[in-house]
Amino acid sequence: MNDDRYTCVDRDALDTETAYRLIVGCVVPRPVAWITTVDEQGRVNAAPFSSFNYVATSPPMLAVNIARRPGSGGVKDTARNIERSGEFVVNVATEHNMELMHRSAAEFPPEVSEIEALGIPVLASRHVRAPRIALSPVQMECRLDQVVRLGRGINTLYIGEVVAFHLDREVYDGHRVDSVALRPIARLGGPLYAGLGEIFHRPMLQKPPGGEGWAGDPASPATKPTKPMKDPS
Ligand SMILES: Cc1cc2nc3c(=O)[nH]c(=O)nc-3n(C[C@H](O)[C@H](O)[C@H](O)COP(=O)(O)O)c2cc1C
Repeated sequence: MNDDRYTCVDRDALDTETAYRLIVGCVVPRPVAWITTVDEQGRVNAAPFSSFNYVATSPPMLAVNIARRPGSGGVKDTARNIERSGEFVVNVATEHNMELMHRSAAEFPPEVSEIEALGIPVLASRHVRAPRIALSPVQMECRLDQVVRLGRGINTLYIGEVVAFHLDREVYDGHRVDSVALRPIARLGGPLYAGLGEIFHRPMLQKPPGGEGWAGDPASPATKPTKPMKDPS
């Protein structure tokens, strides 16, 4: 095999900017957590984060990496609020809420609530003070479990336990979440976002918890596409 077509960027050539550009270009697509928190005055903050995923299922846990502000090195409002209150809500970013979600990433001063400035409608949460964004079909109330400082101090990983899922019945039939109806958007490298695009179907080869979608259970509703998908052959 010919190795000539690859560019190798070794750790010695990796300043922070290059590392950022490469990692956000290579780890794609990323789901976007639109996170709500409250400050000590009760003001609601909202901002998007795509260095985000689920990291545990028993109990369910999510993790988000929040960086220091480039240049000033200041702590972002979301990070400060999570550390102070121990709580946050992850609202799933979708095609329907993308514009407002994106605008909420602007650097608003800490005393300005993005919720008020942008007129984002919210609903009360059950367990945490931070409200849920009513434009999102899935909202997950989280309690902070661990704070992990990473590398040279720019990044901190916040791991939270999901203490309540709120699921719009348009996307949840009481059993599973319909990924297609959810219409999630993903972050790519640079300023790019993507929708779901083409969906491929393959039965799962190892039995997941509950068994849905498993190759040994072809009658499972999860093995039937909700809209035409590419032929698995
Ligand atoms: C789609 C998207 C994803 C983002 N992901 C992250 C991320 O994972 N980590 C991060 O620190 N900042 C991320 N940002 C930047 C923050 O949203 C931005 O710094 C924001 O001003 C933080 O707001 P806050 O100070 O109210 O917390 C992202 C921005 C956008 C638009």
